Amino acid sequence: MDDLKAKYLGQIAEAGDESTLEAIRVAAVGKKGEVALKMRELGKMTPEERQVAGPALNALKDEINSALSAKKAALADAALDERLRTEWLDVTLPTRARRQGSIHPVSQATEELTAIFAELGFSVAEGPRIETDWHNFDALNIPGHHPARAEMDTFYMHRAEGDNRPPHVLRTHTSPVQIRSMELQGAPIRVICPGGVYRADYDQTHTPMFHQVEGLAIDKDISMANLKWVLEEFVKAFFEVDDVELRFRASHFPFTEPSAEVDIRCSWDNGQLKIGEGDDWMEILGSGMVHPKVIAAGGIDPEVYQGFAFGIGIDRLAMLKYGIPDLRAFFDSDLRWLRHYGFAALDMPNLHGGLSR
Ligand code: DAH
Repeated sequence: MDDLKAKYLGQIAEAGDESTLEAIRVAAVGKKGEVALKMRELGKMTPEERQVAGPALNALKDEINSALSAKKAALADAALDERLRTEWLDVTLPTRARRQGSIHPVSQATEELTAIFAELGFSVAEGPRIETDWHNFDALNIPGHHPARAEMDTFYMHRAEGDNRPPHVLRTHTSPVQIRSMELQGAPIRVICPGGVYRADYDQTHTPMFHQVEGLAIDKDISMANLKWVLEEFVKAFFEVDDVELRFRASHFPFTEPSAEVDIRCSWDNGQLKIGEGDDWMEILGSGMVHPKVIAAGGIDPEVYQGFAFGIGIDRLAMLKYGIPDLRAFFDSDLRWLRHYGFAALDMPNLHGGLSR
């Protein structure tokens, strides 16, 4: 009995975790443990022997049990101490300087132009950036052989081997949203569609991903004069000036007839970009009267309805308004640039409170 006691109390003292402790309990005082086996031998003893051995075995069992529970409590304490030690934190440390993100100039410009066009009765529509070939080209009167397809430097999506359908494209302009909006809403309709577009092009004023806002107004009596007025109102409101010099140039787009491109007067002196002065012109948009074929592709009767459309480069508007000379920096995610050109997160642009102040 002394051997048993020494053996188990020794093991208990050395146990490092609860499962070891449980194994010891089973071996020592479990139903088939060593102490139980010894108790079974009591039957074979003489009454005198039993009177001594019985209480001694019970005492041994109690002693092992209390050693087990004491050790169990000690292990739990140690575990808690360890947690407290590792999870310790110094609540008196000073907090970090407040960090706040800023609004990217493209997002800012988008919010601003949305506020302006909302005032003019345009709602906002969106379309997918991965677009069908049909919506991006055919429906806009750009058939397969048309040079505009090549000019757009299109990114084509991969097609599975053996799939002969035309591949989807990363939309090269927001014009396909004209089609989607007409399909969805019918006429009359007045929407703008801002969003990202893609072309394989890269220099100071071109990046492979950039942003446009499409405009579309279809009704029974809409004319080029309405287009010109809307664009002038927009540009004045956006640049927050009473007069901006715009140049309407006759142009050609497959989806409009007649078509006009619009440039804005600017200067690039010493790498500084300024609007409204100087001898340079920056093209900011294409526009025109929507081609009857495009109206028909949108599911609207071109004999009854007509309208205008335009596509404006949002990034270019932001460059001009905020004097940011290089478009490529817009998408470098350089924090220093974002802190310098970004806008306060909580200022929502609106026409009454001011767009950018
Ligand atoms: N989709 C043209 C482009 O990306 C821009 C454009 C021109 C849009 C004329 C229009 C438009 O809606 O009428 O270059």
